[in-house]
Amino acid sequence: MNNVIQKKIIDLREEIKKHEYHYFVLAQPLIQDYEFDLLLKKLEKLESEYPEFITPDSPTQRVGSDLTKVFNPVNHITPMLSLSNTYNETELYDFDRRVRDIIKIDAEPDYMAELKLDGASVSLKYENGFFTTAATRGDGEIGEEITANVKTIRSVPLKISIDKIKGYDLSELEVRGEIFMEIEAFNKLNEERVRNELPPFANPRNSTAGTLKLQDPREVSKRPLDIFAYYLLSPGMHFKTQSQNLEILETLGFKVNKNRRLCHNIKEVVDFCREWSLKRDELPYEIDGVVVKVNSIEYQGKLGNIAKSPRWAVAYKFKAKQASTILNSIKWQVGRTGAITPVAQLEPVRLAGSTISRATLHNFDEIQRKQLNEGDTVLIEKGGDVIPKIVSVVRHAKNSKPVKLPERCPVCNSKLYKPENEVAVYCENYECSAQVKGRIIHFAGRGAMDIEGLGEALICRFVDMKLLNSYADIYSLKEYKDVLIKEEGLGLKSITNLIKAIENSKKRPFEKVLFALGIRYVGSGAAQKLARHFGSLDDLQKAPVEELESIPDIGPSVSGSILRFFKNPVNIAHIEKLEKAGLKFASELRKTAPGILENKSFVLTGTLKNFSREEAKEAIIKFGGKVSSGVSSKTDYVIAGENPGSKLSKAKEFQIQILTEDEFSKLISS
Ligand code: IVH
Repeated sequence: MNNVIQKKIIDLREEIKKHEYHYFVLAQPLIQDYEFDLLLKKLEKLESEYPEFITPDSPTQRVGSDLTKVFNPVNHITPMLSLSNTYNETELYDFDRRVRDIIKIDAEPDYMAELKLDGASVSLKYENGFFTTAATRGDGEIGEEITANVKTIRSVPLKISIDKIKGYDLSELEVRGEIFMEIEAFNKLNEERVRNELPPFANPRNSTAGTLKLQDPREVSKRPLDIFAYYLLSPGMHFKTQSQNLEILETLGFKVNKNRRLCHNIKEVVDFCREWSLKRDELPYEIDGVVVKVNSIEYQGKLGNIAKSPRWAVAYKFKAKQASTILNSIKWQVGRTGAITPVAQLEPVRLAGSTISRATLHNFDEIQRKQLNEGDTVLIEKGGDVIPKIVSVVRHAKNSKPVKLPERCPVCNSKLYKPENEVAVYCENYECSAQVKGRIIHFAGRGAMDIEGLGEALICRFVDMKLLNSYADIYSLKEYKDVLIKEEGLGLKSITNLIKAIENSKKRPFEKVLFALGIRYVGSGAAQKLARHFGSLDDLQKAPVEELESIPDIGPSVSGSILRFFKNPVNIAHIEKLEKAGLKFASELRKTAPGILENKSFVLTGTLKNFSREEAKEAIIKFGGKVSSGVSSKTDYVIAGENPGSKLSKAKEFQIQILTEDEFSKLISS
């Protein structure tokens, strides 16, 4: 009986896999969606009755229910390189010349031209045909494990038939590719976010990267991620060309972009780039250029790498996309420091797959320099990831109105102030609600107190409700729990989580607290230096200007701003409240170990057991040391974890002291 059931389950799985492949990889579904859902439900039912037959590659196992608490580090044995960029055809010809100079052949080399998808690169590992691990690129040497999230992507095969490729041992296989989100899916996701008062993602790339780092794979499975594979690595592989590699990836069931061309010389590559720079808008996903790869793997080996990019490949980047529209008006925004910045309000226009209705302008000077008037037709441009900018005026409107610098704050109506030597104007009312909101947003944000769930929308709401008047009030929010759970869209669960996150933030080290205070010109780097030098807020507060300015990178504007901050009794009151709440106003490490690694330079390689990369770096910096990415004669120590990279051999070559993880732990606890 059980054998019959098992066979039924296996057949059903194969059937579903076939349809997954046709639908998600080939985009040629064989059956209706509801028929597919029925098959999946049937399998789910059988597997829940006979859980002993569940296998990790079953289509039901794509969405795990466990939360990922930490994204573990993964060492890329072959580093994940990036590409150097070219921006015009001359630079492509230069690339071709460099290639030919090195490989020294008379004939013209073949190039594989592929579209450059604008997403997030990923490494997928397969053992004996089973998908085992997915990792982000990270710094190229160490990425983060995101297996549970990648498993939810239905175009990623959970099991591949490696015996389809005869004559090769593919029991160990690594596939690299680009995870992305189609433009339409991205727009839908953003609309939903706006509806839920969440900040929209700037572009499909950001939303892809953000989704891959979600902790709950069930959430990830709801977002329409997809993948194109473009790279294949295996110790048992001796294929000759990139084009053959791509075909093998296809045979193994991966989704490979069809819009590629094997070019027999650089001229054909240039044609391909021209064609796609004109046709890119016809694609349902965003591309930012073309990747050009020397097709022969043998030549690739001869060409090798320079620093972090291969000599055998190059990216041809398309020009930024432009559109023209009308500058309806200028809105003045008040930042947390009181600086008033102009934001252009545009007649909505489609550009690069999204609708643009605002553009940043740095200050009033930029408006004057570009001679922007309300009503003018302007040219806007969207480069990389940023918010679009105004390039120039195309046509002045007949009755256009010149933009005037406001005299009063658009939020609190107090008179504005323009310091000498500065282009910006400021609202000087410390209680101005825009400034209050800005300071709290900065305080709770990433890199500062990092309070999960306390985002911009919620902060603005709490300030308007008068529950928050300053960041110091965050720690008494719990007293209003009963009021909050009755608020629309909040509820017991989210408030309980929020209060937990707030409590949790009390553990942030002194330097983060110092950064969170939002002292003007004290960014995260300066905060770290100040925290290390003084060790406590008390000592920082008492410091004379000379001592402040003796610290590298702390100049008169920073020191002046620090002195002013501590002179303001409102700030002192906030600090006292935060101290009472239990935030850290002294560095714990500094007290016990004053700079035992002072001025020592460290390089990390391989995976550490007890530290993430970030934690190890933080520990080194806290004890006064420095971390650099490459080994040089100036390096004092190399810390080698498991599977160290080429940095270890370089360290040996330079006769640099090598520490194991245990030795490093001992050093900092001594
Ligand atoms: S090849 C050494 N091929 O572009 C080879 N990359 O800066 C490097 N990308 O990190 C990757 N489409 O995320 C390659 N067809 C393609 C690609 C591609 C997009 C991304 C990838 C990489 C970045 C290069």
